[in-house]
Amino acid sequence: MQNRKLVDRFGRTKTYLRVSVTDRCNFKCVYCMPEGGIEKFQRDDILSFEEIEKIVCSVIPIGIEKVRLTGGEPLLRQGLPELVASLKKIDQLQQVSLTTNGALLAKYSDQLKQAGLDSINISLDTLNPERFERITQTPFFLQTMEGIEAALAAGFPLKINVVPLKGTTLEDVLDLIQFAIQHQIEIRFIEFMPLCGSGWSPEKVLPIPMIRSWVEEHFDLQSIERGREVAESYKIAGTQAQVGFIASLSEPFCSTCNRLRLSSNGKIRPCLFSTLEFDLLKKLRDGASTEEIQNIFLWGAWNKPEGHPYRKMKIPSSEKTSSSEGALIRNIGG
Ligand code: 5AD
Ligand code: SF4
Repeated sequence: MQNRKLVDRFGRTKTYLRVSVTDRCNFKCVYCMPEGGIEKFQRDDILSFEEIEKIVCSVIPIGIEKVRLTGGEPLLRQGLPELVASLKKIDQLQQVSLTTNGALLAKYSDQLKQAGLDSINISLDTLNPERFERITQTPFFLQTMEGIEAALAAGFPLKINVVPLKGTTLEDVLDLIQFAIQHQIEIRFIEFMPLCGSGWSPEKVLPIPMIRSWVEEHFDLQSIERGREVAESYKIAGTQAQVGFIASLSEPFCSTCNRLRLSSNGKIRPCLFSTLEFDLLKKLRDGASTEEIQNIFLWGAWNKPEGHPYRKMKIPSSEKTSSSEGALIRNIGG
């Protein structure tokens, strides 16, 4: 901790901050939202844009290079393009990106492009409208597809996020890959993770190595150097598309994790799966200086756990494992 860089006790540096701008969502994806919805944060407890800017400015000197805005659904936060524009004005911040469900992108793509947003990740689990409605529990399939088209038309680099569940078929996977090929984008398959409210159980997980072998049977995949990316990515030979696999449970990548999270109510979360939180909101509103903000981050980063509690779980043969083996963690979005 001496040289004032975000590093944890296992030697991993932190360069990437995910900032949740709202806990609200216009979707209720079955793998994310609890049946009865979530208890919403009070408006006054949500970080203002000025507070987010102040935090981001403070953490750049100690190592943060990239910021991703997430939710809930970040485009539900009024004036999000203004936040993007002000973050893009910060010197030395290399990248500002967004993770969204896409339903509001037709409305906001152009404004986000003008604001300087660098890239967008969009959740899309199937191209089958009925299955989409069942998974998201919304009627927004067409709206989402229009959102994706608007983002492409605005010229954004896009990645599509897919969470396969038991019941996802080879046909679903191949259709999504064809969609990525058609639009020359990256598609990433993310293993269903045990986040609170997700109704997770090992039986519902479709292991990512299985998806990868399905894809390999149909396409020639050329490996791309991984670095500290969470996804293991491949170029699909003969196309401009890429496919990525994020196997958080089957093949955990905790040992190279470079992330920190900030929840919309101002809590630093060193790991998506940990219940450990460091409260910044109160300190910020009590007038914390840049150095004090940095100290809370340095402490949060230092205390990042070595890995998540499920990393030793064998998913493909996990039928006998009970989901009560680890406490489910509240999903702070994206
Ligand atoms: N497991 C895996 N991925 C999830 N997401 C949301 N909940 C879960 C979960 N329980 C994904 C969404 C979104 C991304 C930010 O996180 O698909 O694209
Ligand atoms: Fe909303 Fe994203 Fe959760 Fe779906 S996965 S309910 S779009 S926050």
